[in-house]
Amino acid sequence: MRTQVGIIGAGPAGLFLAHLLKAQGIDSVILEARSRAYVEGRVRAGVLEPGTVETMARLGLDARLRRDGLIDEGLDMRFRGRTIHLDLPGLTGKSVMIYGQQEVVKDLIAARVEAADPLIFEAQVTGIEGIEGDHPRIHFLRGGENQVLECDFVAGCDGYHGAGRAAIPQDRITLFEQAYDFAWLGVLARSRPMADMTYSNSDRGFALCSRRSMQISRLYLQVPADTNPDEWSDDRFWTELHARMFDEDRTEIAEGEIFQRDLAKLRAFVAAPMQYGRLFLAGDAVHIVPPAGAKGLNMAVADVRVLSRAFSSFYRDGNRAELDGYSALCLERVWRVVRFSSTLTGLLHKSDQHSPMQRNLQLAELEYIAGSRSAQASIAEQYVMLNFLEGYS
Ligand code: FAD
Ligand code: PHB
Repeated sequence: MRTQVGIIGAGPAGLFLAHLLKAQGIDSVILEARSRAYVEGRVRAGVLEPGTVETMARLGLDARLRRDGLIDEGLDMRFRGRTIHLDLPGLTGKSVMIYGQQEVVKDLIAARVEAADPLIFEAQVTGIEGIEGDHPRIHFLRGGENQVLECDFVAGCDGYHGAGRAAIPQDRITLFEQAYDFAWLGVLARSRPMADMTYSNSDRGFALCSRRSMQISRLYLQVPADTNPDEWSDDRFWTELHARMFDEDRTEIAEGEIFQRDLAKLRAFVAAPMQYGRLFLAGDAVHIVPPAGAKGLNMAVADVRVLSRAFSSFYRDGNRAELDGYSALCLERVWRVVRFSSTLTGLLHKSDQHSPMQRNLQLAELEYIAGSRSAQASIAEQYVMLNFLEGYS
């Protein structure tokens, strides 16, 4: 089997890359370790920046998004029983879109399958050779058989535990990492969501009320990193959520059946450079942000927009300059987003390591944001990612 770009992973990074390459006449094969049902059923992020929405529109993959996506114009932050309301369009001229990551993934897979373009499920990549030369080979296991994909380039879009980053010699890549001692317990519930995305900093810990539709809420609670989600009964979850949202009389947040629970460990992670020889890394394979900024999926899309343009320049003019500049160009943005996500995480969560001094500084910061339009504008413009890849076609 042979292609121009061998893509490992059918998450957002790999799927968007394949579609963007196709739009420029470049062939690719996607190898995905899991089944189609598993990948489509994985519940994760839900906030799409305008740049991500625009990418879906440009690819002609936004029919369902336009129909089912919810425009989110407000971002609320609660503390001390008060609410800071960030009017996203008023502060930035833009808003974000709520549309579940697994819906994005379903749309991208459906279009790829319908066009009969190669996307191979249950193909576990076991190793990559030849990335220092001109003819890389991706080894993968499918149906108990070892197979090989030959390509011009390899795109490692295979997440934190993938085979892409692992193929880079340890002395050629630097890892930056910060783990947190807490996680997010996420649930989906059949209940009427709150009107605005609401983040809360309470003495009991962080909580977030988001949504997936007018009938489905997506809710999160900060919990210890070793939590078993099944230990959280519906009743326990609702009681804690009301308390952390300053809704003790249980009148504001509507309850309903919780039909899905998951735990997301929090980490900030960057690997640099994002490229080695003919291997290019994108998305969670090379950076992870704590989810408070809702950036993970959007960063993956931003990476592959840059990468697909660089491949296009290479195949059109034989020019490697954009490919060689890929890592530096992306990392500048990646570090800014890591900074934003880490700052929001620090602002909104309760840490076991917090001294009373730090807790008061956190509350003082929230008081400052509550009283300053400039501070609110600063958060809002990072949330919608104003000037996202300006000038990128
Ligand atoms: P992924 O979506 O992880 O896709 C990588 C793909 O590669 C997977 O399908 C995997 O099966 C495949 N793969 C891995 N190894 C191999 C191999 N050896 N061979 C072949 N295929 C392989 N972000 C938010 O903003 N908000 C959230 O609430 C949120 N929740 C999250 C919850 C969890 C549990 C996780 C893990 C992430 C969450 N994120 C969240 C982050 C966001 O979902 C990711 O940033 C996004 O999925 C990144 O896309 P990706 O394509 O880079 O990686
Ligand atoms: C979500 O809707 O899943 C969501 C919203 C905001 C975040 C993270 C996740 O910061």
